[in-house]
Amino acid sequence: MDILLRPTATDVAVAAADILADFARRGATLGLATGSTPVATYRELIRRYDAGEVSFADCRAFLLDEYIGLPRDHEQSYHRTIRREFTSHVDIPDEAVHGPDPEQGGQAYEDAITAAGGVDIQLLGVGTNGHVGFNEPGSSLASRTRMKTLHPQTVADNARFFDSADEVPIHVLTQGLGTIRRAGHLLLLATGAGKADAVHKLVEGPVTASCPASVLQLHEYATVIVDEAAASRLHDLEYYRFIEAHQPRR
Ligand code: GLP
Repeated sequence: MDILLRPTATDVAVAAADILADFARRGATLGLATGSTPVATYRELIRRYDAGEVSFADCRAFLLDEYIGLPRDHEQSYHRTIRREFTSHVDIPDEAVHGPDPEQGGQAYEDAITAAGGVDIQLLGVGTNGHVGFNEPGSSLASRTRMKTLHPQTVADNARFFDSADEVPIHVLTQGLGTIRRAGHLLLLATGAGKADAVHKLVEGPVTASCPASVLQLHEYATVIVDEAAASRLHDLEYYRFIEAHQPRR
């Protein structure tokens, strides 16, 4: 796993945009994530698109997850969110942006990803309890896209996007950890002190369903980019700095 330490959340977004723009230039299939963490990265990519530095015209995109029970056009559905935060501001065709559809179910989404040739790079955030996508603690490391019930912690964390916690759907359709692991490259971003414990566990803890993000340790190409606050509980921080300062030429 490559651990990239950056001073601020803005620097994290720039580093993530560097990697994603390289994939976009090759017309990659992008795995997109919602949540607040990737928003700064999306803004940076939109800025580069506006400056003529990158195009997404040949890309396809697959979302990680979706709430069950929200109308597709609800302001907080992930179908809507990804368009508002990113894809409607760049030149990726709208019909090339896919998300899990609760009406169609998990297998249809797995089939769509497979038919597209798989995801080349999957962008990920991490929940305070270590969840990725909506794979809560206890999720099978081999799981595929299926319905899950949110942990009360996640409902509480996501209540800020709704008028009240009562409005947060508790059921979701999410790519499984096995689905996520099939992507060619995993790129996880974490910013802020609230993520420090999850970052420590996913990087330095055991591979365990109790911390779903620890599944990254099983992937051949996983990059974790964190700001100082999110890195603050990493035990081997100095070693990660040392590695980055002494990158071998590739
Ligand atoms: C949500 C999403 C995840 C996201 C996580 C963290 O529940 N389903 O994909 O990574 O929460 O969100 P945030 O980046 O807002 O902290």
